[in-house]
Amino acid sequence: MKKISRRKLIQLSLLGSVVSVLGSYSFAKALALIPTPDETEGPFYPVKDQNDKDADLTQIEGHTGVAQGQYIIVSGQVTDVTGCPVENVMLDIWQADANGRYRHPRDPNKAKLDESFQGWAIIQTDDKGFFRFKTVMPGAYPASGTWIRPPHIHLKISKPGYRALTTQMYFPDEKLNKIDLLLNAKSAAEKSAMIAKNIGQQGNLPIYEYNIVLDLLRK
Ligand SMILES: [Fe+2]
Repeated sequence: MKKISRRKLIQLSLLGSVVSVLGSYSFAKALALIPTPDETEGPFYPVKDQNDKDADLTQIEGHTGVAQGQYIIVSGQVTDVTGCPVENVMLDIWQADANGRYRHPRDPNKAKLDESFQGWAIIQTDDKGFFRFKTVMPGAYPASGTWIRPPHIHLKISKPGYRALTTQMYFPDEKLNKIDLLLNAKSAAEKSAMIAKNIGQQGNLPIYEYNIVLDLLRK
């Protein structure tokens, strides 16, 4: 058998390290997630504080009655672009009720406000970035002219060290998604990151998975 010199062995070993470094670099690059795209806050961020902002928007503490509409579960995980969980992230969530009406004094929608719908929640993820809330499927509502906003949920997400994110989550298989002026300004990859996935049922409640990817704060 041919003997390999010590010098050759060192050269081969160095080459191996370079290949390995390059390989893991492209692997990490291929795995990189796109940060969840930004979207406008819109005009209906809550202006009046309320006591109940918990993770169940279908009931308001101290009120009799429950929200109208199809109840749903939204759950997911907040990660960074490498897929590592980001712990204890604050999610500020607001949406229209099942009739497409916001609990906001300047919402011009003529639809009747559902007084039993909480409309707003501020929740925190756990130490693995997971979150879950119960709400109603938001109604579509007229925006301007013939434009009708598809069902969506607004979110503001903040965590020190990461870029603050304001965005909107959409639902799969909604016809209005195809003609929404905001969603359709996004690329195919961005749309895919903004549309939740129906991953099954909990009892008779559909579960939508919506994962959020935060970008590092750049100085
Ligand atoms: Fe909206």
